[in-house]
Amino acid sequence: MDSLVIDGGIPLNGEIRVSGAKNAALPILCAGILTAGSLQVRNVPHLRDVTTMLTLLTQMGMEVSLDEHLGVCLSAAALHNRVAPYELVKTMRASILVLGPLLARFGEARVSLPGGCAIGLRPVDQHIKGLEAMGATISIDSGYIHARAERLRGQHIVFDLVTVTGTENLMMAAALADGLTLLDNAAREPEVVDLAECLNAMGARITGQGTGSIRIEGVANLGGASHRVMPDRIETGTFLAAAAATGGEILLKDARVDLLEAVVDKLREAGAFIESGPDWIRLRAQGRPRSVNARTAPYPAFPTDMQAQFMALNSVALGTAVMTETVFENRFMHVQELIRLGAEIEVEGNTAIIRGAGGLSGATVMATDLRASAGLVIAGLVAAGTTVVDRVYHLDRGYECIEEKLSKLGARIRRQRN
Ligand code: EPZ
Repeated sequence: MDSLVIDGGIPLNGEIRVSGAKNAALPILCAGILTAGSLQVRNVPHLRDVTTMLTLLTQMGMEVSLDEHLGVCLSAAALHNRVAPYELVKTMRASILVLGPLLARFGEARVSLPGGCAIGLRPVDQHIKGLEAMGATISIDSGYIHARAERLRGQHIVFDLVTVTGTENLMMAAALADGLTLLDNAAREPEVVDLAECLNAMGARITGQGTGSIRIEGVANLGGASHRVMPDRIETGTFLAAAAATGGEILLKDARVDLLEAVVDKLREAGAFIESGPDWIRLRAQGRPRSVNARTAPYPAFPTDMQAQFMALNSVALGTAVMTETVFENRFMHVQELIRLGAEIEVEGNTAIIRGAGGLSGATVMATDLRASAGLVIAGLVAAGTTVVDRVYHLDRGYECIEEKLSKLGARIRRQRN
């Protein structure tokens, strides 16, 4: 398992390009199942999760080709296998996103239950409830979801809670259903909007994306299309938080400030100076950051996927911060690792109190999940001395060439193959 070795204390300075959004690319690749035409997806990030998704689709019979610009061309004309096996699903929960498209296009699917993960139980009951409401017959045995439907029927579905992939799964299923589907209490994340825009380019009739009420008029068939994946707002926020924590000035290209207003507000509250244009964001830190409180919640509120990164920032900030995690039940595993670096953090239930320490000092720490790893990297960039972050395969799932990008910004970071 690879590690990242970081010599901290160097302010980040320079310019990098933000990659395509992992959490938009994954459902959009699954949308390729919905058509016998070919779907060209551009600006796909080169990530472990994307590779896993392409492996899953290929073993189902999807024809996949990569163009010279890392664009992906998909054709489901010869798709024959409607099974998503446990071996792949257990490594990437987003595999559940093939369920809705398989059911809508072929009337059957066998998808392994994802199982829990480090940050929580992460059930998929809302996905199943919605598909059953649309007329699917679903049983669960031997750890697999078996789903069948002659043809899904449009339905008015109210989610019990906001679920991103639940909204995406049902939106894709409804695109080919018979009649009108209304999704209420739907997720408003930009990645849901990006998927809807790709589906509409394929001939779907979706409106209301980005609001809590999405309207989908089912059509008989969807065609091929070409779609460019939106920039990754969490990668953007991660680099901005790293620059604010270490000091310095960075420019992010192919970044959209409208995707992460809540994060930018918090960074300004922490004392950073931020300006932006249509496709760029510049941050200039002005000395040590000030502590900022944050409470995670569904978009447009402060994202849970930025919680660990801000905990690292608050660990070196001036003051005391209170951070509350309301989306996942176990997303504080980075706390113990940050404490190994000298952070002063107390946890009470789903709330953490972070006292800005005088400074952090390097140590060996262990990544436990994707965004926790990003928080540990940020802490290592600030800590005096050398920090070794173990199990960086977590990072590779969601960040494209993170050490190359950070090195380009002046960080002293290298990958150690163990
Ligand atoms: C998506 O996960 C993202 N993943 C996650 O990003 C992100 O943290 C999460 O949304 C929240 O924003 C992808 O888009 C691939 P949810 P998802 O369904 O859809 C509960 C990353 O770091 N729930 O919105 O799985 C669930 O347990 C990853 O890139 C149910 O109870 O999250 C959680 O507490 C991590 N029943 C809450 O809802 C369900 O049927 C929100 O989960 C579905 C969800």
